[in-house]
Amino acid sequence: MRIQVIFGILWIFTQAAMGLLVQDPVVCRFTESNQCYVALGQRLHLPMPLEEKLELKIIDMTSTSHLIIRYRKIQSNPPKPNPPRWQFVNESKTMILTSAERSDSGTYTLDTYDANGNSKANYTLQLNIEAEVSSVKLSFSCLSPGVMKVYCSADGDNLRFNWTPDLNTLPQLENGNSALILNKDHHGNVTCRVENHVSYNNNTTELHPCPGLLVQDPVVCRFTESNQCYVALGQRLHLPMPLEEKLELNIIDKTSTSRLILRYRKIQSNPPKPNPPRWQFVNESKTMILTSAERNDSGTYTLVTFDANGNKKDNYTLQLNIEAEVSSVKLSFSCLSPGVMKVYCSADGDNLRFNWTSDLNTLPQLENGNSALILNKDHHGNVTCRVENHVSYNNNTTELHPCPESTTSASFLAQFTNGKVPADGPTTAVVTSTLSNDGFMVFVYVWLCEVIILLSLLVGAFCIHTRIYRKQKITENQEAL
Ligand SMILES: *[C@@H]1O[C@H](CO)[C@@H](O)[C@H](O)[C@H]1NC(C)=O
Ligand SMILES: *[C@@H]1O[C@H](CO)[C@@H](O)[C@H](O)[C@H]1NC(C)=O
Ligand SMILES: *[C@@H]1O[C@H](CO)[C@@H](O)[C@H](O)[C@H]1NC(C)=O
Ligand SMILES: *[C@@H]1O[C@H](CO)[C@@H](O)[C@H](O)[C@H]1NC(C)=O
Ligand SMILES: *[C@@H]1O[C@H](CO)[C@@H](O)[C@H](O)[C@H]1NC(C)=O
Ligand SMILES: *[C@@H]1O[C@H](CO)[C@@H](O)[C@H](O)[C@H]1NC(C)=O
Ligand SMILES: *[C@@H]1O[C@H](CO)[C@@H](O)[C@H](O)[C@H]1NC(C)=O
Ligand SMILES: *[C@@H]1O[C@H](CO)[C@@H](O)[C@H](O)[C@H]1NC(C)=O
Ligand SMILES: *[C@@H]1O[C@H](CO)[C@@H](O)[C@H](O)[C@H]1NC(C)=O
Repeated sequence: MRIQVIFGILWIFTQAAMGLLVQDPVVCRFTESNQCYVALGQRLHLPMPLEEKLELKIIDMTSTSHLIIRYRKIQSNPPKPNPPRWQFVNESKTMILTSAERSDSGTYTLDTYDANGNSKANYTLQLNIEAEVSSVKLSFSCLSPGVMKVYCSADGDNLRFNWTPDLNTLPQLENGNSALILNKDHHGNVTCRVENHVSYNNNTTELHPCPGLLVQDPVVCRFTESNQCYVALGQRLHLPMPLEEKLELNIIDKTSTSRLILRYRKIQSNPPKPNPPRWQFVNESKTMILTSAERNDSGTYTLVTFDANGNKKDNYTLQLNIEAEVSSVKLSFSCLSPGVMKVYCSADGDNLRFNWTSDLNTLPQLENGNSALILNKDHHGNVTCRVENHVSYNNNTTELHPCPESTTSASFLAQFTNGKVPADGPTTAVVTSTLSNDGFMVFVYVWLCEVIILLSLLVGAFCIHTRIYRKQKITENQEAL
């Protein structure tokens, strides 16, 4: 019995709404609050109190203290701050930073003195530079029938996640991203709003029913088990490595080119860096992880292991197959001759296999990777087509309607209502299930037109015949004269 875990992934890149939560320029005052938030790249004004002498320092994230400015009212030259990205405006006694950088974050201390050099007041201010929230992305996967997981990720610092109000039931934080577990009753739109101290941004995605998944998420492929492994496009893959002194992992891709992905030695001090970097090597579990499988990850993976002396120990191979999930299962039918119907099934996805409602599994044919059935007139009602590949399955149903008596009318109808000519030529009608309700009216119309054309032809023929007859009469009369 295979574990049926449903899985679907959808990325939405549109930016719905975003905004800044801090004014530009940000004005931070030593005398107000001791926390100040500025967006990366934003302008910052730091007004200084009017004193005889000032000393501004920063204690950065490494707890190192730097002098930024030392000011004396009586000095003739304006003071030069360090770093020079800061400017001191003497008229307003304001420190200005044109474009804040992450390294400007820290604790700022300002010590003030009177004219005699006695300490007057000490102030501190915590300055926090945060990158704005951007690239809010939503995706979802189906964990088990009826249970869906929705993910929200974003770029930016100190992110806080908020979901559509009624969904704020079970959010979990995973690596700074947010995930929600939903039961099957949730359909439609889900919005994720991401916020930090300086900005907010949000994105919305529409949840769709998931196709059935035939592989677990993440897929775990082992070199020691089977030599065939199937992973859905976009799915996560774990590839545990055997515990050996030295390993070499290669891929032979579809063009028969071999590329080194990982070379590992137990004794090396730095963790190995796989190539391409979409692969990660987790040293603790000795597992190679691919976060999102792509089609070009398909290929033959070879793993060679060595002992401590560098002698070859084992040689493993694994065939990795990445398949797009089955989606958009579409059904249509056409009338071939009175009472004979052809039903078509098509779908998106890789390596598709088609299967029809059990009692119809009599005459299925494969046509350009799609499936078609020939049915006699006794078949009415619903027909289901189930499409499967190694990673997923999906299905759809259409209701068959009786075929019109005249086939020529039916083919006429098809070309005008559907605009799509089926693979076996324009003589066949394709009547999609959604159009079939109007189909009868169109059919009647087409039939009337044909009757009119037929009548016109008859009238025409009669006229021509009469003219020829009259001409003949005239000729006969002339000859008689
Ligand atoms: C700075 O401004 C003060 C008045 O606030 C003035 O006395 C001083 O001369 C100015 N210094 C420079 C260098 O312009
Ligand atoms: C300011 O801090 C210094 C030490 O950094 C201290 O000597 C001085 O007394 C403080 N001044 C005030 C007014 O608290
Ligand atoms: C990787 O893990 C092994 C133990 O399995 C350890 O001996 C080695 O130091 C680790 N290497 C790194 C770079 O962390
Ligand atoms: C595989 O495909 C992805 C995008 O689909 C691309 O970014 C990557 O460069 C490709 N890798 C190779 C080795 O062709
Ligand atoms: C691994 O074995 C295959 C045959 O099974 C062979 O073609 C390949 O050269 C071997 N690789 C190494 C590195 O020994
Ligand atoms: C089933 O067919 C309908 C009509 O063509 C379509 O809207 C729907 O998305 C299909 N369902 C699946 C699961 O492909
Ligand atoms: C078609 O699907 C049914 C389950 O829906 C299964 O029992 C049957 O074996 C399948 N037939 C083929 C030919 O795959
Ligand atoms: C076909 O299915 C639809 C809904 O799935 C249902 O309303 C209809 O009655 C079914 N038709 C027949 C003939 O079973
Ligand atoms: C059709 O797909 C739905 C999920 O979309 C699933 O619940 C149902 O079991 C499938 N039916 C067949 C016959 O595969």
